[in-house]
Formats: sequence, C-alpha cells, structure tokens
Amino acid sequence: MLRKRPEKPIHFLDLGSGRNVRVNLLAEKHPEKRFVSVDAQTRHTVNLQNLEHHRKDAMNYLKEQPDNSIRIINADFSIRSIRSMKHFDVEGNYIPAEKKLFEEIHRVLKKPGSFFLTTMDTEIPLMKKLLHAAGFSVNVKPINELLLPNKRLLTYSETLANATPKELENIYRLKAIAK
Ligand SMILES: C[S@@+](CC[C@H](N)C(=O)[O-])C[C@H]1O[C@@H](n2cnc3c(N)ncnc32)[C@H](O)[C@@H]1O
Repeated sequence: MLRKRPEKPIHFLDLGSGRNVRVNLLAEKHPEKRFVSVDAQTRHTVNLQNLEHHRKDAMNYLKEQPDNSIRIINADFSIRSIRSMKHFDVEGNYIPAEKKLFEEIHRVLKKPGSFFLTTMDTEIPLMKKLLHAAGFSVNVKPINELLLPNKRLLTYSETLANATPKELENIYRLKAIAK
C-alpha cells in the first residue's frame, strides 16, 4: 500500500491575507519553512515552493487542521470581516463573532505558539477579553513602535503600507501566546 508522506507542519498561517504581501515576503525570506495563506475572496498563483494559498473561509480552514499543529497564526485587519459563525447561542445570548474563532486558533496552535493580530485601538478591549477567555496571554503594542527597519517583515501588511502617519497612530498589534 502506498503511504502518503506526512506533510511538513505549517510554520506561518495568514488569515484574511488579502493580496498576500506579508506572507510572500516572509516565505521568500525563509525557504525552509512552510507558509499558508487563506482568504475568502482573493485567488493567487503562488510561485514559491514553500507557500500555498487557499481561497476559503478562515474558520472552515481552521476546522480542518489538527490540534497543536501550527507555530504562528497572523491576521491583519481581517478579524472583523471573518464572521462565519453564529452570533447568538440557543438561549439568545449574544456571542461575539470572534469568540469561536479565537478558540479554534488556540486549538490548532502549537504550545507554545503565537497569534498576531493587527487592528484599530477601538477594538483592543474586546479582542483582549476574548483572547484571554480563549486561553491566551496577550501583549499589545502600538504599531509605530514595531515599525522599526529591522522588524519590518514581521509587521508589514498592504494595509499598513498604505496607512497615513495619522492612521498609524491608531493601529495596534497584539501578540497572543498559547501555552
Ligand atoms: C482589510 S483586508 C486585509 C488584507 C491584508 N491582511 C492586509 O493587511 O492588507 C481583509 C481581508 O479579509 C478577507 N476575509 C473576509 N472574510 C473572510 C473569511 N471569512 N475568511 C477568510 N478571509 C476573509 C477579505 O477577503 C480581505 O482580503
């Protein structure tokens, strides 16, 4: 019987990757590591051996992944759009859309593993609360502090590149650690 060779574990998964700007740069820089991008709308022809793109709903992609299997998950300006789950439980209580998503991200991350999230300042309190509830510890930094030249690849996204200095003042990056 033919046995399928086990796939290399995913090092970096970008959810709502848009035009794949960040993930392309990272995959080029680290040819030995496996990168995956997922976006519900965009289609990409990828020329790098270590990068694959799925045109798919983020939650559906995560559900197919085994527990403790991914080292880093990233989401730049995409969490609020990824709304593939119910907003009310059976008793009619409001459930923030991100709750299930963060629980699923926690499940698939290796322990320790990191989930990076870039978002606006107004979102931070809710995101922090939901990330803690899902089992993460959370650090928050203003993006201006992170946009140093030597850290550029880790903080780069197309939306960030197009933001004005004024807009950058309101953008924050969360690092959520799963242990
Ligand atoms: C504001 S764009 C951000 C793109 C990129 N991450 C950046 O920083 O420039 C949000 C992206 O999330 C994607 N998206 C929206 N809902 C999604 C879902 N349910 N699953 C996966 N991607 C989704 C959209 O197609 C879009 O490309």
